[in-house]
Order: sequence, then structure tokens, then C-alpha cells
Amino acid sequence: MHSFIRHLHGSSSEASTQETKGLVLDEGWRYDLMGWFHDTFSFRGNWHELRQRTINLARMQPGEQVLDVGCGTGTLAIEVQNRVGRTGRVAGIDPGAQQVARARAKAARRHVPVEFQVGVIEQIPFPDQSFDVVFSTLMMHHLPKSLKRQGLTEIARVLKPGGRLVIADFTRKQDRQGGAARFHAGGSSIQDLVALVSDAGFERVETEEMRPPRFSTFPGAGFVRADKS
Ligand SMILES: C[S@@+](CC[C@H](N)C(=O)[O-])C[C@H]1O[C@@H](n2cnc3c(N)ncnc32)[C@H](O)[C@@H]1O
Repeated sequence: MHSFIRHLHGSSSEASTQETKGLVLDEGWRYDLMGWFHDTFSFRGNWHELRQRTINLARMQPGEQVLDVGCGTGTLAIEVQNRVGRTGRVAGIDPGAQQVARARAKAARRHVPVEFQVGVIEQIPFPDQSFDVVFSTLMMHHLPKSLKRQGLTEIARVLKPGGRLVIADFTRKQDRQGGAARFHAGGSSIQDLVALVSDAGFERVETEEMRPPRFSTFPGAGFVRADKS
């Protein structure tokens, strides 16, 4: 996954990919191919399960407004649109222009009206109190700590009062053992995420853990769910 990273500071070789202090993945269909390969041959479906658990934690209702920050190629957001139905609205942002292009193509092929756009957590391109739910999946480990703080404040801004935040991330590298230690992508400490989410003013912070299965390189994951006061 991280072989695809581009770190965009100050100047960009691709005008439409947005600058950020985060680590940008911008490989479009190659990202999906890599994800399929990992999940099929080494994660044994656990990446798919991680996505389902992330979505379930939000306990969404038809008609809700949802944002996926760092949406990548849009797989989660497209599935979420099916949960909130035609009366709901789903948007996804990512700094990677190729990620967004791929997400748009997938949504169009499935006739799913998700709005994907190039954007960054530093400055989420939506007005205050726009969303009932905001997701961040496998994205937090792409941000330096100062940007995590800034980004969580931005997420709180675009959530409606009582809105829910759901974060999922891989277990951090130093906590992985056995075959899971071989997986190259980074991760997060669930305790660090809880502290950051609480500092950003969220309430009723809940966590869940997804342990690494035996005989798999899936690194395990943590989930944080919290409500905006
Ligand atoms: C590992 S991918 C996860 C993508 C998707 N959420 C998923 O679960 O497949 C992390 C994503 O975070 C994006 N990202 C990096 N910096 C970001 C920022 N400042 N704001 C929003 N997204 C960012 C990357 O471009 C990348 O697509």
C-alpha cells in the first residue's frame, strides 16, 4: 500500500491532487487491485469484515447525511449509500485525484449517487453541521499528530449536534506479532485515538478491537465511535 504513497508539500506534479501534510495514496484502480490481492490471499476476507464492522458501528438510518474523509477509491462510501437509501446523501473526499476518479467511476458503474471530490481533512469542503455521520477508515495513520488534532476539529465542525464519528485503523506496527508483523502499512494506537477524539470535544467514546486471526497477515484493527455533543 505504502509503495503508492506520495507526500505532497508545497508543490504538486498533479495540479488536481490537493496539497496536504498527510501521506497521499493516488493510484486509483491499482489501489483496488492491491486491496483485493491482500484480502483474498493473505487477509482471508478480514479487510472486507473491517469495512462492514465500521459501517455497522455508525448505526445509520435511511435518509441520513454521511461523509467519508480519506475515502480512497470509494468502496465504503458506495456501500454506505445503499444503507442510507435514495433519501440519504453520501459524500467522500480524498486529496488523491486518481483515487477520486476511480471512486467516481465505480459509483457511476453501480448507479450510486455518491458525491466524490478532491479534498483534505485540513479544510473539509462542506458547511458547518452538514452530516449525521463521518467515517475515517485506515486514514488516521496517514496524518502527523498535529494534523489529526486539526482534522478532528474539522470533523466536529461539519457534524450536526449529536452526529457520530467512526474511526477504523490498523493496529500500529510495533503491536503486531507473528505473520501480521510482515504487513507493511502503518496503523494507530486506539488509546491515542481515544485521547485525541476526547480532546476534540466528542462524547460517549466507545472502542472495539478486531484481533489478528491466526494464519493471516491481517494486522488487526481498532475502532473508535464517538458522538458530537
Ligand atoms: C489507506 S488509504 C484508505 C482509503 C479508504 N478509506 C479505505 O479504507 O480503503 C488512506 C487515504 O487517506 C488519504 N489521505 C491522506 N492525507 C489525507 C488528508 N489530509 N485528508 C484526507 N485524506 C487523506 C490518502 O490519499 C488515502 O487515499
